[in-house]
Amino acid sequence: MDHLVDRLRAVFAGRRVLVTGDTGFKGSWLCLTLLELGAEVYGYALPPERENDHFSLLGLNQMIRHTDGDIRDLPAMMQVFQNSRPEFVFHLAAQALVRVSYDEPKPTFDTNVGGSVNILECIRATQSLRAVVYVTSDKCYFNKEWVWGYRENDELGGRDPYSASKAAAEMVLTAYRSSFFERREGFGIASVRAGNVIGGGDWARDRIVPDCVRALLEDRPIVLRCPNATRPWQHVLEPISGYLMLAAALKDQPKAFGGAWNFGPRGDSIRTVGDLAEGFVSKWGSGRVEIDKGGAHVHEARLLHLNCDKALQELGWQPRWDFLRTVHETVAWYRSVTQDIPALDVSRRQIRSYMEESCD
Ligand SMILES: NC(=O)c1ccc[n+]([C@@H]2O[C@H](COP(=O)([O-])OP(=O)(O)OC[C@H]3O[C@@H](n4cnc5c(N)ncnc54)[C@H](O)[C@@H]3O)[C@@H](O)[C@H]2O)c1
Repeated sequence: MDHLVDRLRAVFAGRRVLVTGDTGFKGSWLCLTLLELGAEVYGYALPPERENDHFSLLGLNQMIRHTDGDIRDLPAMMQVFQNSRPEFVFHLAAQALVRVSYDEPKPTFDTNVGGSVNILECIRATQSLRAVVYVTSDKCYFNKEWVWGYRENDELGGRDPYSASKAAAEMVLTAYRSSFFERREGFGIASVRAGNVIGGGDWARDRIVPDCVRALLEDRPIVLRCPNATRPWQHVLEPISGYLMLAAALKDQPKAFGGAWNFGPRGDSIRTVGDLAEGFVSKWGSGRVEIDKGGAHVHEARLLHLNCDKALQELGWQPRWDFLRTVHETVAWYRSVTQDIPALDVSRRQIRSYMEESCD
């Protein structure tokens, strides 16, 4: 059977791959997946924030060549590109939280826009590169509060600093592509837009899964402000498999696969925050959910969800885990790790079962 893992191993085994934001939630899962595929992995990011960050729990510092650094520091990052001579880059480093972007708009723009310009300068100077996957967000689309899924050619923009910074990062890439990369032989670059990713090892503030886990571990109710808000939930391994498949395709056909790509879940994974919290409690086996009535006045932008026809049809990517499986694997991860099963074993097992299962 043609497993995803075999196809990806043929592309990445022995290849030098640089991941920015490797100490973060998605970056740490991506690095472990790349190690499973036999890649030589380099990382560049701020140090992990907590002792129980996924990066730290995995011991990734000992498994990859990580450099602590800031993407706003162009000379330091250029040095890492020169030392690692990467063939693939996955750019994930960002100030990734909407709430923080209201408190710290300038550092958010400096990192998400200025830092991305610095990455593109490093890419411009690195001739070893074959493919770059440049991560922005589903929030780069100007939210028109309509019911349709956003397509890659829809209008970009954002009302909050985070969303605007991601839309701006997309525009910066467009300018670099047409000014510098279009005529570069044997090199492809694409931006990727995903959102509402869940899975084990996320401890960020103001995200629903870490909030659920903290409440359950402390024997507190899970308090929800907007239980009826709907979100397109997907497991972190879903967009990661898309990023890897895209990088592989870019290496073979750089011009055909350049551009922007959405990676989102199937329609049946668009569920309410309440569904997710209740699903969490039921799989955890204890706990309860309460509604914060005072939260009713908080304005929630209408659901923004992605149309993924392009990735489905042109890349052959498809989501593998439905909503229940996503919740099941996420709860299983936190349950196991908080019962002292090594995170490395749990995360590896999940990556292997994701990669080795065939699609429906
Ligand atoms: N998690 C989601 O649901 C989601 C949704 C849409 C888009 N994204 C995007 O995916 C990427 C990864 O998100 P995540 O959830 O892993 O976020 P995260 O906050 O867990 O990780 C962010 C990473 O970026 C690094 N970073 C932040 N500022 C930096 C700086 N100035 N210099 C160097 N490194 C810096 C951090 O050290 C960390 O490694 C981000 O670009 C984010 O915007 C995430």
